[in-house]
This record gives sequence, structure tokens and C-alpha cells, in this order.
Amino acid sequence: MFRVTRRYAFAASHRLHAAELSEEGNRRLYGKCNNPYGHGHNYLVEVSVRGPLEGTTGRVVDTAVLDELVRREVVLPFDHRNLNQEVAVFAGVAPALVPTSENLGFEICRRLKGNWKQVFPGEWPKLEKVRIGETARNIFEVGADEIE
Ligand code: NI
Repeated sequence: MFRVTRRYAFAASHRLHAAELSEEGNRRLYGKCNNPYGHGHNYLVEVSVRGPLEGTTGRVVDTAVLDELVRREVVLPFDHRNLNQEVAVFAGVAPALVPTSENLGFEICRRLKGNWKQVFPGEWPKLEKVRIGETARNIFEVGADEIE
């Protein structure tokens, strides 16, 4: 069994603000990440798949197919967007998700998992995990088998 990881990048802005909390509670919890006009990140996304080495091709995953899926479901909808306003799951009133990197990683994994069988109809490869880097110090990881 092999594991293959591909890296992708997009830039987006967000503001961390939980509608259920008070203004003061939000400031205390999120600090400068709660500043009203938002701020940006250059997000790095790593998508890991696993599967057996396919003898004929010598490959585990058709990376062009994976790239097209990630481009369609993640990079195009998120790149140069204001996540709080332009991405449905983070926009609007409660219960919109707060666009933390945890929730962003969750949403990316959910999108890839939801569209996986459409582009990879066989048994392999399987989506294993998504890692998202928000800053040089933060990496968030979610396993595809750990979400609905
Ligand atoms: Ni931030």
C-alpha cells in the first residue's frame, strides 16, 4: 500500500467570529483574528490518498484527475475569496460555520469525499486525509474516515 500526497495553495480572507458569542466574548476568544474587516492567509493544502501500486502504470493515483478535482472543489471556489461572505458554509446567519482552519479543513475534506466516487469510481485510490496550513506555525489535519 502506498500513500501519495499532493500540495495545493490558495489565498483567502476571513474573520473569526462566532454568532452565538458576544462581541466581547469573540474578542477575548479570537483576539486580532476577530478584527472586524478580516485578514488574509496563504493557505497550503495537502491531500493524501492511499492505494496499491497499479502494475501496468506504476502509479497509485492519476494525479491529473486528483488535481482537477481539487481545482474544481477547493481552489476555484476558495481562492481570492472572502470566506465569511463568499463560501456558503461560512456565510450568512447561524448555523454558518466559523471559518477556522479546522472548519476549513473539514469543509475541504467533505467536498473531496463527496465527489470522490464520481472521479475515482473504482475501489482505489481512497482519500486518506487533508492537511491545511494556515500560517508557518499551524497545521490542521482531518482524516477522511473521521468525518461524515
Ligand atoms: Ni486568520
